[in-house]
Order: sequence, then structure tokens, then C-alpha cells
Amino acid sequence: MSDTSSNQMWGGRFAEGPDAIMEAINASIGFDRRMAAQDIAGSRAHAAMLAATGILTDNDVDAIREGLLTVLSEIEAGTFQFSTALEDIHMNVEARLKEIIGEPAGRLHTGRSRNDQVATDFRLWVRDQFDAAETGLIALIRALLAQAEAGADWVMPGFTHLQTAQPVTWGHHMMAYVEMFGRDLSRVRDARARMNESPLGAAALAGTSFPIDRHMTAQALGFDRPAANSLDAVSDRDFALEFLSTASICAMHLSRFAEELVIWSSAQFRFVTLSDRFSTGSSIMPQKKNPDAAELIRAKVGRIFGANTALMMVMKGLPLTYSKDMQEDKEQAFDAADNWMLALAAMEGMVRDMTGNRDALAGAAGSGFSTATDLADWLVRVLNLPFRDAHHVTGKLVAMAETKGCDLSDLTLDYMKSVHADITADVFSVLTVENSVNSRMSYGGTAPQRVREQIARWTDLLG
Ligand code: ARG
Repeated sequence: MSDTSSNQMWGGRFAEGPDAIMEAINASIGFDRRMAAQDIAGSRAHAAMLAATGILTDNDVDAIREGLLTVLSEIEAGTFQFSTALEDIHMNVEARLKEIIGEPAGRLHTGRSRNDQVATDFRLWVRDQFDAAETGLIALIRALLAQAEAGADWVMPGFTHLQTAQPVTWGHHMMAYVEMFGRDLSRVRDARARMNESPLGAAALAGTSFPIDRHMTAQALGFDRPAANSLDAVSDRDFALEFLSTASICAMHLSRFAEELVIWSSAQFRFVTLSDRFSTGSSIMPQKKNPDAAELIRAKVGRIFGANTALMMVMKGLPLTYSKDMQEDKEQAFDAADNWMLALAAMEGMVRDMTGNRDALAGAAGSGFSTATDLADWLVRVLNLPFRDAHHVTGKLVAMAETKGCDLSDLTLDYMKSVHADITADVFSVLTVENSVNSRMSYGGTAPQRVREQIARWTDLLG
């Protein structure tokens, strides 16, 4: 410990300090300082347990716990001197603790290792991010529910292949995203429940000979239980991978909606007007209002997927237990978490502020022969045609309307009869988009009544 050139934490075995390049590649303090609060919470819990089990004296532990609070306040105040030579947050905190309280600081590391320490800190950090994602998702779902409620019966085109398919309701489209983000929410909750086990006390890899109480530290840190296998506890990063894969799936959903908003806000579509607060202008083209937030959400997905892939690659093939490779877990998770939370918040803001253009939506809903399926269904229901024949008859009528440059509802009854003699004037009742959506009453269908039931169900679920 007295050797000044070699590391103060393990200097005993070393004659020389590290090369500058070694220090640069090894150090994680540049990023893992983000886990300072978690590191100090973990150490305080560990110290309290060391006193409760009689492994350390109350006096030493009181000094340690008080000193750790001082370190935390220095970090929060921005006065803490982080040192690259001290490699990571764990050793930076401990070294400062030693400066503040002296000898008892050296007893804190009894019965633990940086391997279980970092696993604990990182788990606590990721757990907080799961909670933040839960909050962000709920806010976004609420914004979508408000949009769905406002336009539960507004008609718009539903698409397949981005070609007009059948009329749907605005509310139904919004509720489709509620389902997606609702699944994301349940993935967040599942993963959070699964990851909530404490690695602390697994020590380096094999457990410890000190009579520690892992249940006590687990409870103090809000974990449900201690992790059951010490080897697994220090080498598992599934929790970070589940965080990143959950983030990736959610980001994929965000990107799909972002893409729709980009399309919908274009002059060609005019389905929505984005608020000024979530748009930007052009420095050269005065008429422009650009959907930058949507575009950036669409793009940020790339780095979130990248983080997931990167950590998968880091972890694949690693032998048990801890390897320094695993230090690469944090920057990926930090970057993905920051961008996921930002994307969720930006999407929530955009959705909350945007205005659906009811007239443009309705105008588009009727174009593209969107009620052709309703016509075919009428032929089946009223004339008892087999669906395949009805499809054929409808196809002929669509071709006819296309040639004449009119809608299906503009064809005269005589024209219709020339394709199938039994068609009656009643057919016109199904050719309006309003009737079309109102008729889609099957469970999960687009009829406004069904949409309102789903809004009520989700509003209830969120409480
Ligand atoms: N900074 C390290 C990390 O982030 C802490 C654990 C180091 N443990 C070790 N045995 N070198 O993974």
C-alpha cells in the first residue's frame, strides 16, 4: 500500500506501475462514474451488514457509512477529483474514503470483490432505467389514448403495402400503437422482475468465508433475493441484454410510428399537423416545417440496436466467470438508455401536441376504392355469392370505375347490373366509408364502438 508507483489497491504484487496505454485501455472511470450513487448505496449496505454480522466493529462501520456520504456529496457537488489511475468508480470512491476516514476505509472491502460490486452497481443502475422506461411508456400510452378518444370515429385509410386497403378509424390506428407500447411495458416489467436479484456477496466468484448475510444486503438494496449461484452472479449480464433487447423492440415500434408521422405530415398526405414545438424550419426554404423529432427517433433506433448487438457480441463465448470484456457493457447500456428515454419523451410530446386533420383523413379514406371489400361482402351476404365469385364481380366493378375515373359509389345501378344482374340499390348503403367502419364490429375491429371499448380497457389497466 505504500508503493507510490504501483496501484494502491494491489501494489503489493507489482514492482512497476502501468504503461500509459495500459491505463488508458483499462480505465472505466470516464463513464462508470455515472454509477457513483449506486456504488455508494451498495457499499453502505455492505458495511451495515458487516457490522450487523460482527465482522466489523460498529465504530469502523459508522465511520465508513458517514464517510461514504461525504464522498457522495462531493461527487454531487462536482468537487470530487476523479482519477484515471484509480481505474474505476469503485476504487475512486474507496481511495477518497481512505483520505477522509483513514484506516477503517481499508476494511470495507472485506467479504466482497469488485466483481460482485460492479455487478451490483450496474444492476441497480439498469433497474432505475427500467423504472424510467416504465414511466416514459405509460406517459406515451396516455398521450395515444387521448388521441384515440378525440378521434375514435374519424375515418382514414388503412393501408397494406402502403396502398389504400380498407377504411379504418383514427382511434383504431392510435390504439394499434397502444397495443405495441403496452407489450413493451409488459416486457419492461417482466425483465425488471427477473433481474431483481442481488449479486452482492458472491465476492470474486466463489462466495466468501466470512459469515456475511446476503439476504440483509439484498433487502437493503431493494432486491427480492440474493442471486443463488456466486459464479453466475458475477458473470451474468442477461439483465443488461434484456434491457437492451426490450429497448430495441420498443425502439423498433417508435421508429414505425415516427416513419408514419414523417409521411403523414408531408404536404402530399396532410394527415397530421405537428406542433411548432416539435418541428423545425429550414434556413433557406421559408415554407418548410420539418418533422425532425420523428426523423431522429427513427434514426436513434440504429444506435439502440447497435448497443444490443455489441453487448451480445461481447458476451458470446466468454468463459465463466468475470472477464474484463464485461467492462464494455456499460457504455452500451448508458447510451441506449439515454436515447431510449429521449425518444420516448419526444414521441410522447409529439403525439400529445399533434393535430389529426379530420378532413384530409376522411378525404383519403374514400379514395382508392377502399370500400371494395364491403361491396364484395355485400354480394356474399345479400346475394349469397361464394366469396371468390364476389371478389371477381367486385374486381370488374373497380376496373369499370377506374376507367371512368370515378368512385365505386358513383357507378349507376345499371352499370352494376351489367356486371351482375341481381345487384340492387341497397348496395350503395355499404359503399360509404362511415358504414364500412361502423360495420367492422368483430372483436378487435375498427368500428368506433369497439375502439371505445379498447380505450376504456386500457384506461382501466393504467389506473
Ligand atoms: N471496472 C470494472 C468493470 O466495469 C470493475 C470490475 C473489475 N474487476 C476486476 N476483477 N478487474 O467491469
